[in-house]
Amino acid sequence: MTTLTNETAAIAVQDIKKSFGKNEAKTDVLQGVSFQIPKGEFVSLMGASGSGKSTLLYLIGGLDRNYTGDIYINGSNISKMKERDMTRLRLDTVGFVFQFYNLVQNLSVEDNIMLPIVMSKKKNTAEYRKKLDEILEITGLTAKRKSKPGQLSGGQQQRVAIARAVLANPEIILADEPTGNLDQKAGNEIMELFRRVNKEKGITILMVTHSPQSAAYADRVIVLENGKMKEETRTEQAV
Ligand SMILES: Nc1ncnc2c1ncn2[C@@H]1O[C@H](COP(=O)(O)OP(=O)(O)OP(=O)(O)O)[C@@H](O)[C@H]1O
Ligand SMILES: [Mg+2]
Repeated sequence: MTTLTNETAAIAVQDIKKSFGKNEAKTDVLQGVSFQIPKGEFVSLMGASGSGKSTLLYLIGGLDRNYTGDIYINGSNISKMKERDMTRLRLDTVGFVFQFYNLVQNLSVEDNIMLPIVMSKKKNTAEYRKKLDEILEITGLTAKRKSKPGQLSGGQQQRVAIARAVLANPEIILADEPTGNLDQKAGNEIMELFRRVNKEKGITILMVTHSPQSAAYADRVIVLENGKMKEETRTEQAV
């Protein structure tokens, strides 16, 4: 077996430190976090509210570049990358499911789901349109495909964000509490979908969750506590 390095991992973070605010108001949210995620692994990121999970996901996605340490995506050190190259990498490689779904309010459900594909000029739009029906069906959104996000429930909006991330078939999915607003049945369906794209397409997944039940779908659990990584648990693939 070849040893995993920052260059061969799908995601690697090396001694990441991140603070918010200044002087008395300064909060050291991440105080030297390091881990590597090999290609094709499904990892859950857990930890108390305020422990820095979303912050870390933003850094890995290149959405906040104000930190120290190094972050590698598919072997490229994004900490040193130009903004333009970073944006390109993000569009081509990474699918996001945010804690707040970032849907475009004046676009329909299906246009929201297609948006990253339309924006990534490398992808053949017609080809993905054929897969749209299937992803709408899996996420239970077929009847809502023409609706605007404002006409949907929180859980339905969440499913639009998940469908958008999965359809684009990215190499990496970063998901922030993707089942946070869903009942257990809908949550399990989303986890089944994640596990399916992880196993069938080899998509690497880093998923923040508070739900032990969702976390159990992953191969490994990373826990953040007091700005550091507390433990790594291998989950039994029992679910
Ligand atoms: N833009 C910001 N300005 C100042 N402080 C911030 C900012 N964003 C986050 N923080 C602080 O950083 C800490 C970590 O926040 P973060 O959102 O990463 O937590 P989290 O682990 O995702 O929590 P939750 O489980 O509640 O989503 C918190 O103390 C928060 O108040
Ligand atoms: Mg969060």
